[in-house]
Amino acid sequence: MDSPEAAARRVAELLADAVRAAQEIALTGGSTPARAYELAAELEPDWSDAGVWWGDERCVPPDDERSNFGLAKRTLLDNLESKPGRIHRIRGEDEPAAAAADYDRELRGMTLDLVLLGLGPDGHVASLFPDAPGLDERERLVVSAEPTLEPYVERVTLTLHALRAARRIVFLVAGAAKAEAVERALAGPPEPAVPGSMVRSDAGETLAVLDRDAASRLRD
Ligand code: 6PG
Repeated sequence: MDSPEAAARRVAELLADAVRAAQEIALTGGSTPARAYELAAELEPDWSDAGVWWGDERCVPPDDERSNFGLAKRTLLDNLESKPGRIHRIRGEDEPAAAAADYDRELRGMTLDLVLLGLGPDGHVASLFPDAPGLDERERLVVSAEPTLEPYVERVTLTLHALRAARRIVFLVAGAAKAEAVERALAGPPEPAVPGSMVRSDAGETLAVLDRDAASRLRD
């Protein structure tokens, strides 16, 4: 995509299509998706048939400016004419292990149709950080995690196992600071040092929506 705006618009279109198909959608945090969320609310203001989930959460209350739910509320949910019929928030205000166990129960038996993910400059996705102990988790769908990048608050995150079960995974990445991480996550071998390289849909598709700067180290 030529610009961050074009990448945000493409993701907004994918979100709007998923909403119109009444799908189960997992949102991401960080700063990159904000514009995509605003555009998605403009493209499709009726989310009443959709289910909304989160791939990870920072362990702060929902009205804290670092909250991933809070970001989606400000940029997406508050701008809708009809709210999603099902909002599955990770309870960042709870004790992390308890919040993870509760979300695991909520997610179990559910297939996510679309999981939106960002990518950190260190190659992390959701709150799965490089070489984190939870990367080889096979049973749990959701775990608590310690961040190795700002903001330094505990996290609750879907596991690789849970992310890979999604029907469609979409990475949204913008900016030159992410170019090396994009190269390693999308064009390199799968390795725990770059969790993004280990996230691919088991049975569905994995897409990357990148702006020109983020894609600059990929070959055509
Ligand atoms: C979080 C995220 C995280 C994020 C990346 C990219 O809670 O921080 O879910 O995985 O997507 O860190 O974040 P930026 O868009 O801010 O670069």
